Amino acid sequence: MPATPLEVDNLSAGYGPTRVLENVSFAVPAGARLAILGRNGMGKTTLLATLAGQTRRYDGRIRLGSADLTAMASSARARQGLGYVPQARCIFPTLTVEENLFVGLKGRPKASLEEAYAMFPRLKERRRNLGGQLSGGEQQMLSTARTILGRPSVLLLDEPLEGLAPIICEELMAAFSELTKTGDMTILLVEQRIQSALDFADQVIILERGRLAWTGTPEALSMDHAAVERLLGVGGLH
Ligand SMILES: Nc1ncnc2c1ncn2[C@@H]1O[C@H](COP(=O)(O)OP(=O)(O)OP(=O)(O)O)[C@@H](O)[C@H]1O
Ligand SMILES: [Mg+2]
Repeated sequence: MPATPLEVDNLSAGYGPTRVLENVSFAVPAGARLAILGRNGMGKTTLLATLAGQTRRYDGRIRLGSADLTAMASSARARQGLGYVPQARCIFPTLTVEENLFVGLKGRPKASLEEAYAMFPRLKERRRNLGGQLSGGEQQMLSTARTILGRPSVLLLDEPLEGLAPIICEELMAAFSELTKTGDMTILLVEQRIQSALDFADQVIILERGRLAWTGTPEALSMDHAAVERLLGVGGLH
């Protein structure tokens, strides 16, 4: 599926009676790389989960290309091209790597697994290992690869680097960049590793208590020391 523009308009959402997101609006063109930043508990995961249709929406609209996702169930959104890799990597520990990948094929031929292996050759080496035997980095590769096999036009990544060694982080970020290189995929990346996110992104939004508090380019954010300190709680970026 080719990359698709995503448009979020006045979105308010939460869990049951708990309102978390308030009036969030932003638009990303096809092929964009958007970093979603903010301190702990500010609503980043809730935003991705809301796009994926897994929270309670109170107000607002979500459009993906010409499709209005707003009233669609999660499964229908996935069929429209929305790929969600949640923060919990959700792999099956007692299935092999290859069996875990079968889940992502959704009726596509088995040969399509090579797409996943081309992206992460390490998964091919470990294809007969159980999911539960993988390192954190390999689990993240598996979880991402399984979603990619569904050929999403927009990929939502929630803290893919969490708990991983720097060398593995570099490998993952290189793979994500590769996905957007041909312009075939739009990526929304939630990350606490701010510098990695900014090196990757071409646009940034920052959430503060469920509201959009800052929007701009990574370059503009690097120069906005006050915003970095207030909204991200770090002294500065290099
Ligand atoms: N299932 C839930 N039910 C009720 N409230 C929730 C639920 N999940 C999250 N929240 C609340 O929603 C707010 C935003 O949480 P969210 O997980 O979206 O933040 P986050 O920015 O992803 O944080 P982190 O950086 O720690 O991952 C928090 O106040 C949190 O306590
Ligand atoms: Mg989160």
